[in-house]
Order: sequence, then structure tokens, then C-alpha cells
Amino acid sequence: MTALLEVEDLRVAYGKIEAVKGISFKVDAGQVVTLIGTNGAGKTTTLRTLSGLLKPIGGQIKFQGKSLKKTPAHQIVSLGLAHSPEGRHIFPRMTIEDNLRLGAFLRNDKAGIEKDIQRAYDLFAILGERRKQAAGTLSGGEQQMLAMGRALMSQPKLLMLDEPSMGLSPIMMQKIMATIAELKSQGTTILLVEQNAQAALSLADHGHVMEVGSIVLSGTGRDLLTDESVRKAYLGED
Ligand SMILES: Nc1ncnc2c1ncn2[C@@H]1O[C@H](COP(=O)(O)OP(=O)(O)OP(=O)(O)O)[C@@H](O)[C@H]1O
Ligand SMILES: [Mg+2]
Repeated sequence: MTALLEVEDLRVAYGKIEAVKGISFKVDAGQVVTLIGTNGAGKTTTLRTLSGLLKPIGGQIKFQGKSLKKTPAHQIVSLGLAHSPEGRHIFPRMTIEDNLRLGAFLRNDKAGIEKDIQRAYDLFAILGERRKQAAGTLSGGEQQMLAMGRALMSQPKLLMLDEPSMGLSPIMMQKIMATIAELKSQGTTILLVEQNAQAALSLADHGHVMEVGSIVLSGTGRDLLTDESVRKAYLGED
């Protein structure tokens, strides 16, 4: 079986500084795969490169068996790769509903779009209740939900989430993690970048630990959760 996403020896640099130093991993359809690691490890750089926002200096990215090397960012979305970026990037003056519609900008199946907006409201009831309100009035956690809902509006084959739990209260974080689990059960394939290693590994099929641009450890979510070095470094145990 061909993996949905295959990353091989990927290298990305900012000027002379190599932020991603030859990483390889794959994501099979239907899986949740997580990248965890310390600040500055290169997780966001990896996602931005997969989205076509940064050009790699080496290596291969294959999506559904095809190289993305020459594919511009806007076409990458139409292939089925959606990115909910770190720091959310919603449009604060637009309504919640219009923010969601923006996520469907490449679609013209009107009825399908309406159905998916409803699906976002089913996932996140608060978005439906406030649909006509400016998105900037939402709390941080609610904005995170909107960013996820918007990414889903492109009907992605692969949903990439960059730190969806950042800055959220424990309850909001649980809600986001439960939603990720629900999306997985609905068949969405997810590449999840998280600081909260416990939560991410608990729901991931596979995980990779990044340190200063390299993957230093890989395994199933369960293996990494019980790995002693992971527990010490990322789960706050000694
Ligand atoms: N635009 C940029 N210009 C120069 N260096 C950058 C730029 N963006 C990121 N870097 C550097 O690249 C490295 C990797 O950063 P990246 O944002 O990918 O890390 P991260 O794993 O997402 O970290 P965090 O968990 O803090 O979000 C860091 O050393 C960072 O300072
Ligand atoms: Mg980051």
C-alpha cells in the first residue's frame, strides 16, 4: 500500500541555518501521526514545508505517491492537504461563518459546502451559536476550534494541525483532543504537532520525537508513551 504522505530525508533551511536536517516519516490513510519535541525542533517548519509555504533544500515529499516538489502552495490545498497553522490566523473582523466559508474557497459544490458548515457546527456547537458574530470576539480556544473547522472545509485528505491545544484551558484542550479522536473515527487522516505529548501520543497511531531538526525516536503512540526517555523529557517525570 502506498502511504498517503511520504517524507524522505527532508531538509529545510532559513538562510544558512538548517532547521530540518533530513527527516523521514510517513502517514498512512486513516492514521493519526504526531510530531512532538521541544521548542525550535523544526515541527512548524516541517508543516509549512509540506503546505508548500517553504521550499526544501533537499529530500522528497510525496502525497498519494506523487512528488510535491514543483507544486505551488495553492495547488497543494486542492490536492487535499489542509493546514491549521500555529497561532490560528483567523480573520477577526469577518463573521465566524464567513471564516468557515473561506476554507471552502476552492469548492463550488454549494450544497456540500452548506453540509460541511453544518458539520463544523455539529463538532463545535459554540461556532453555530455565534455564527454571525465577528470571529475576533471568540476566546482563544474558540478561535482554535474555528481554525480547525475552517481547515476541514476544504475536505482534506490530510489535516495538519499545528499545536491545536496551545494556550487552552484543560477543558478546552480535552475538547480539542476529543474532536481530533472523532475526526479520526470519521476517517480523517491527521498529522498532529503538539507540545502536549501526553495528549498527542494517547490518540496517535505513530509518533516521532524531534530534536534540533532531527527525528531522534519513533514508535507507536503507546510505545512512546511508555518509553522512559520520552517520559523524562516530555511528560515531566523523573
Ligand atoms: N522565519 C524564520 N527565520 C529564521 N529562522 C527561523 C524562522 N522560523 C523558524 N526559525 C528557526 O528554525 C528552528 C525551527 O523552528 P520551528 O518553528 O520549526 O520549531 P517548532 O518545533 O515548531 O518549535 P515550537 O514548539 O516552539 O513551535 C528554530 O531554531 C527557529 O528559530
Ligand atoms: Mg511550532
